[in-house]
Amino acid sequence: MVVPEHIAIILDGNGRWAKMRGLPRTAGHAAGAETFRKIATYCKNIGVKYLTVYAFSTENWSRPEDEVRAIMKLLDKYLHEAIATMEKDHIRMKILGDVSQLSESLQNEIKETNDISSRYDGFQANICLNYGGRAEIVNAARHYALDVASGKASPDIDEKSFSRYMYSAGIPDPDLLIRPGGEKRISNFLLWQCAYSEFYFSDVLWPDFGPEELDKAIEEFNRRDRRFGGVKQV
Ligand code: IPE
Ligand code: IPE
Ligand code: MG
Repeated sequence: MVVPEHIAIILDGNGRWAKMRGLPRTAGHAAGAETFRKIATYCKNIGVKYLTVYAFSTENWSRPEDEVRAIMKLLDKYLHEAIATMEKDHIRMKILGDVSQLSESLQNEIKETNDISSRYDGFQANICLNYGGRAEIVNAARHYALDVASGKASPDIDEKSFSRYMYSAGIPDPDLLIRPGGEKRISNFLLWQCAYSEFYFSDVLWPDFGPEELDKAIEEFNRRDRRFGGVKQV
C-alpha cells in the first residue's frame, strides 16, 4: 500500500454534525478541531509527509458574526496549544492564506509556529486560514509583477518559477484531496495545486471522520491509475 506523500482535506460538515445533535454549530467546529488533532497524529504515524487542511475560506467571513468569532477563538486556542507541544511531537506547521486580516494574537501565534517549525524537519501540517485559491493566484501574480517591475524577476516566467510565489511555495502538490461532508465541489481550495490530485468524496461528516475513514480513502487512492496525461503503465 502506497501512503500518499501529501494529503489535503476540506474540513466540511461541522455545522450539520451539530444540528443533527441539536447542538449549536459552534459545537460542531469544536468537535471538528478535535478530529483534526487525531487525523494529523494518524497521518504523521503512517508516514504522510504533508497534511493540508482547509479550515477557513475567504468566503467564510460571510457567515454570522457569532460563528466567525467562535471559529477564530478555536483557532486561537489550538495554535496556542500547538506552540506548547509541536516541538516535542515533531510536528511542523505552516499557515496558508492572507494572515494580515486575522487578529493580532493569531498573527503572533502564526509567527511563533513558523519560527518553531524552522528548527527541525519532518511531518508538516498546513492550515489554510482566510484562504482562497483564486486569491492565492492573484496574490502571487501581484508579487511577481512587483518583482518584475523592480528588476528582481524576469518576465519570462514558467510554472515552476510562478509556484514560488504561491503560499504553498516549496510544498509538493497534494496527491490525494479528500472532501468529507457529502458535497462534491472544490469550494475555491488549492485550485493551482490540485491540477493532478486524486479526489475522494465521503458522506461522513468531518467530526466523525476517523482514521478508519482515512484508511478507506488511502485504499481507494491505491486503486487509482495516475496517468498525468500519459498512457497507462503496464
Ligand atoms: C466546515 O464545516 C467548517 C468551516 C467551513 C469553517 P461547516 O461549518 O461548513 O459545516 P456544514 O457544511 O455547515 O455542515
Ligand atoms: C469549504 O467549506 C471551506 C472550508 C472547509 C474552510 P464550505 O462549507 O465553506 O463550502 P461550501 O459553502 O459548501 O461550498
Ligand atoms: Mg460546509
